[in-house]
Amino acid sequence: MTEFNAYTKEVLKRFTNPKNFGEIKNPDGVGQVGNPVCGDVMKIYLKVDKKPEKIKNIKFQTFGCVSAIASSDALCELAKGKTIEEAKKITNQAIIDKLEGLPSIKIHCSVLGASGLKKAIEDYEFKIGKISKKSIKDDDK
Ligand code: FES
Repeated sequence: MTEFNAYTKEVLKRFTNPKNFGEIKNPDGVGQVGNPVCGDVMKIYLKVDKKPEKIKNIKFQTFGCVSAIASSDALCELAKGKTIEEAKKITNQAIIDKLEGLPSIKIHCSVLGASGLKKAIEDYEFKIGKISKKSIKDDDK
């Protein structure tokens, strides 16, 4: 069995043709996180409509594996069009379900996108003055 046989068709589709890969110029929020398990890095960019407050656009960049790329692409799709409060509730499991599963040794890769989104939302809320302090360490911008 090759390594790719371990992945669902949905993972491979998103890995080979991610729709949400890239950078957003002048983003309203940016979150960058590193995966402590493997050292891979993920960056999430947000553009937010103010009234109603919804995620208008979301993109990702990563130095990551097949699962990280597919997970981030799925995350972007899950978050786009959601309110900030709805987006905060997106779980790793929702990402994994969207991918129709991940090999168990690759579950940690889905955490990268979800953490990046949380950090990007926090960056957005800090910029608009909704929160006065970031709770997530801002060590990597
Ligand atoms: Fe690093 Fe998947 S192995 S994110």
